[in-house]
Order: sequence, then C-alpha cells, then structure tokens
Amino acid sequence: MSLFGAKFIFLDSVDSTNNYAATLLEQLDTVNGTVVLAEYQTKGKGQRNNVWQAKKGENLTFSIIWIPDNLSVSDLACLNWWISLTLTRLLKSYGINAVIKWPNDILVNERKIAGILIENRLQGERIKSLIIGIGLNVNQIFLESEKGISMKMIKNKDFDLNHILVDFCYLLNTEINTWKDYKKLKSDYENSLFGNQKEITYSLNNSTHSGRVKGVNTQGQLLILDQDQMKTFNAGEITLLY
Ligand code: BTN
Repeated sequence: MSLFGAKFIFLDSVDSTNNYAATLLEQLDTVNGTVVLAEYQTKGKGQRNNVWQAKKGENLTFSIIWIPDNLSVSDLACLNWWISLTLTRLLKSYGINAVIKWPNDILVNERKIAGILIENRLQGERIKSLIIGIGLNVNQIFLESEKGISMKMIKNKDFDLNHILVDFCYLLNTEINTWKDYKKLKSDYENSLFGNQKEITYSLNNSTHSGRVKGVNTQGQLLILDQDQMKTFNAGEITLLY
C-alpha cells in the first residue's frame, strides 16, 4: 500500500493542519502517511512565526504525517530538497515552471505560489516523526501579499483541489525509493534554486549585503560568496531580497 495518502482527513476549519497532525501523533494508532487537509485554517503557521493566509476553499492547505523507519537529523536537508523539488514537479505537470527560493519557498515569476513548513520530533539523532505542512495557492486570485501568486492567476482557470493533492501524494510515493540519492537531489535542487550562481542582495541583521549564490552544503545551508569570502547561512538567518 502507498505510504503518502494512506489516509485522508478532511476538515472544514482548524487552527492549523500542522497542529492537528501533531495532536494525531500523540495517539498510538496514528496511520503513517495520513494527510490532514483543511478548507480553512484560522491560524495557519508559516515560517519564522508568520501567519499563512489562504481564503476558504480556494487553496490547498494540508499536512502529511510521516513516521520514518530510519531517518536521522542529517537527512533533514535532503528531505527539504525532496519535498521542494516534488512541489516544483507537481506544478510542472500542470504546465507551471517554478523555482525554489532558499530554503523552501516556491516561486513563479518571482512571486510566491507555495510555502512549506516541516516540523519534526527527534529522539536523539533519530527522527521520530515529521509533519510536512504545505500551503499552495490554487484558485485564489486576490492574495494578501502582492508578492503572492496562484495557479489560477497563471493559467486563468480553476483547478480541482483534490486532484492536485492526489497527484502530489502520487509523486511522493513514486519517488520514495530514490529520495535518498543525495548527490542527484542536491544538484536538482541547486538547478532549481532561485538566484543560483548569480549576484543577489540579502538582508542580515537589518543591513543589506550582496554576493554570489554558490549553492548549498550538505546541511542545507546557503553558500554566498561575498567579497571573496565564502559565507554559510542557516534558514531564517538571512532574507534574500528580490
Ligand atoms: C511558509 O511560511 O512559507 C510556510 C507556509 C506553510 C503553510 C502550511 S498551510 C498547511 C500547513 N499548516 C500550517 O499551519 N502551515 C502549513
């Protein structure tokens, strides 16, 4: 049986599908691969304590529970690349070319179409469980942020939310055995990385810097060559300005 999408839970309204999934994980009989999907989130969580806003019934807001057999903290970067790439492949299958803004924002025409929030529970170095939360702008045309974009804004038509979700699970399931091909994933990720090998500006501690993006390292840190010095940054440490 397929792992991702082994069970679907459809909710009308919830604070956050990631929070709901976390509560499910406290139960003993949680089905690995469960997808929690909400029509509306009252407190959708984004990265860096941001709120994820999405109009009721027009977008995909869901979380996938994964209780992996044998993953450790050192797999987290790879995992993030895999999920980000699978989202860009999903969009590609709908005729939309997207890129990844490090670490895992999905952009089309320099506007954000999807965001990913992966939360994990660890036992020492081992990953006990993961909650992969995804917000994808699908049919909404008036977005809160002018830097946002949706599939409908690009393709001028409505999309079937359930269909997209099933396609996404299918892609994850078909690639589950290859996702640990670290080298390939890293190079695929870097090839899809917004601004890679280009001069970019970024903000660090409220000041603006510039440098050339040189891909990522094994821990998923971003490498920037700034005035002949190779600098490494963790997610959340800098903001790429674009
Ligand atoms: C980001 O800031 O880019 C990450 C956004 C992640 C939003 C999704 S929506 C479904 C899931 N539940 C949440 O509360 N957040 C994630």
